[in-house]
Amino acid sequence: VKNRRWLLRSRPVRNVAAGDFELQPEPLQAPSLQPGQVLVRNRAFLCAPTLRNWLNEAGPSSRVTIGLGESIRGPGAAEVVGSANEQWPVGSRFTGVTPWQDYAVHSLDAVTTPVIRIPDGMTEIEALGPFGVNALTAYFGLTQVAQPRPGETVVVSAAAGSVGSCAVQVAKILGGRVIGIAGGRDKCDRWVTEVCGADAAIDYKTEDVRARLAQLCPAGVDVFFDNVGGEILQAVTDNTAIHARIAVCGQISAYDSDAPAPGPRDMMRVVYWRIRMQGFLVGDYVADVPRARAQLRDWMDRGLLRHRTDVRHGFERLPEALVDIFRGSNTGTLIVTTD
Ligand SMILES: NC(=O)c1ccc[n+]([C@@H]2O[C@H](COP(=O)([O-])OP(=O)(O)OC[C@H]3O[C@@H](n4cnc5c(N)ncnc54)[C@H](OP(=O)(O)O)[C@@H]3O)[C@@H](O)[C@H]2O)c1
Repeated sequence: VKNRRWLLRSRPVRNVAAGDFELQPEPLQAPSLQPGQVLVRNRAFLCAPTLRNWLNEAGPSSRVTIGLGESIRGPGAAEVVGSANEQWPVGSRFTGVTPWQDYAVHSLDAVTTPVIRIPDGMTEIEALGPFGVNALTAYFGLTQVAQPRPGETVVVSAAAGSVGSCAVQVAKILGGRVIGIAGGRDKCDRWVTEVCGADAAIDYKTEDVRARLAQLCPAGVDVFFDNVGGEILQAVTDNTAIHARIAVCGQISAYDSDAPAPGPRDMMRVVYWRIRMQGFLVGDYVADVPRARAQLRDWMDRGLLRHRTDVRHGFERLPEALVDIFRGSNTGTLIVTTD
């Protein structure tokens, strides 16, 4: 049995490239499992943009760094194929951070990142896609962090993406007036407004975001669900209403570099407008996942929530898929299966 591994060959110089990764096949050595450990077969990986941060040297804001020559790791769906852990018998499945390898050993009782059981009847694609961490991030970021009230104006950046398109729809369900920001007229019209139901969408590649927001939101933006940061964060902050809330979900515009993610330039706007800015991680809400999944399923069954996955088949395609995220070439939640 072969165990293919994707290793970090070189740290990206500014933009990540497929050449920064190296595929290393090796024979699988049957491991002797210590108490609490499991051997898993990784079935699929989620291309999470934050993984790009982990390819840099550790910095003051990064919690994880992958060493040169080490396996890349990221969110994935795995099946237990050998077990010395009663809670995780052979055949049980979970999503969690796992190395880009066919097989891996995990000490599931000791991991510090969320491990979420995949219930019977749910496929791995569903567990990473419509009910996965990105959908849950949108759900918790809105219901627990930003908490828009009916009638408030909600702006979502990277609105055509995995987290963003779910955030647009959840904000609509909660009664918001929603404006999405995405790259390209087609994404804005065909997906963010037509399917996800945003009231308007701004194409940041061809439009002046600050000026369009001023036109669309004369009374100001009440809630900003930010996936992008940088100039888009600046443009929205310049258009906030008094007592606006900014849920800082991610800062993708700063990831594909080794520079830190900048904040709004004039913090006196935060003071005078009494803005509340709060970062959050989906892992903070892991205990609430079964209830959140039930709510997402109910909304889907009632036709209120749609999800699209961009599934690519083949372990060897992982690096190119990750690169695609930074080109905006993904159409929805980007998942790579191992076969
Ligand atoms: N806080 C948490 O717990 C948590 C959990 C999951 C994800 N996140 C964050 O959520 C955000 C979205 O992640 P996702 O997995 O759903 O990815 P995604 O939105 O499906 O894909 C990323 C999208 O971001 C846009 N983008 C890429 N580079 C950009 C740039 N330089 N400037 C502006 N837009 C850019 C592209 O869309 P366009 O074509 O529209 O540019 C791309 O399709 C990320 O910031 C991620 O780190 C946070």
